[in-house]
Amino acid sequence: MAVRIFLPIIVAFTFFFLSYSSDPTSLQDFCVADFQGPVKVNGFTCKDPTQVNANDFLFSGLHIPANTANSVGSNVTHVFVDSLRGLNTLGIGIARIDYAPYGVNAPHIHPRATEILTVLEGSLLAGFVTSNPENRLISKVLQKGDAFVFPMGLIHFQKNIGNTNAVAIATLGSQNPGVIIVANGVFGSSPPIPADILSKSFQLDEKTVLELQKRL
Ligand SMILES: *[C@@H]1O[C@H](CO)[C@@H](O)[C@H](O)[C@H]1NC(C)=O
Repeated sequence: MAVRIFLPIIVAFTFFFLSYSSDPTSLQDFCVADFQGPVKVNGFTCKDPTQVNANDFLFSGLHIPANTANSVGSNVTHVFVDSLRGLNTLGIGIARIDYAPYGVNAPHIHPRATEILTVLEGSLLAGFVTSNPENRLISKVLQKGDAFVFPMGLIHFQKNIGNTNAVAIATLGSQNPGVIIVANGVFGSSPPIPADILSKSFQLDEKTVLELQKRL
């Protein structure tokens, strides 16, 4: 009798916890990435903790300006798990962004992270666009010392609106936030998205679509 009553309750509770639990928090101090680990997991397997040293937690060089002599006039130096193995499982990353005068960090998305951008030098116009159906542009001119948030998954951009170089530090809520540059993703995929699809979607003639695909 007791079993007939309690068993369904236990089963129900088990499924409740299986379906409503979220990612567990860390069960250890750190898990320095072992890039050679044979097991493919969501992230990287851990280096033997007794073999870990201070350099596993260090990235040097964020003081060095990157070369912005390119078509957009900006350059991002990422510090994610691939260049700082101690970030594995910790849920954060950082980047330095250099902007030439009037340089643009083109509209892009981080599929796995919210970002907070802090301006160290110069003035930037920063903005993001809300999802459908509003597609509202929320933008702001940022000065040195300002911090601005780009919510996870939304298209965002920055432009240096000054005639001197600008520098910002971006902190992101993932060891591997991912980047989708909208122009490259749409017009620069390999193989290309068929031109008739982009023509209808962007209301452009196919010649213009092919021209954009050639450039990107
Ligand atoms: C970004 O800067 C680095 C270091 O200066 C340089 O090696 C790289 O080619 C630059 N990337 C682009 C896209 O300009």
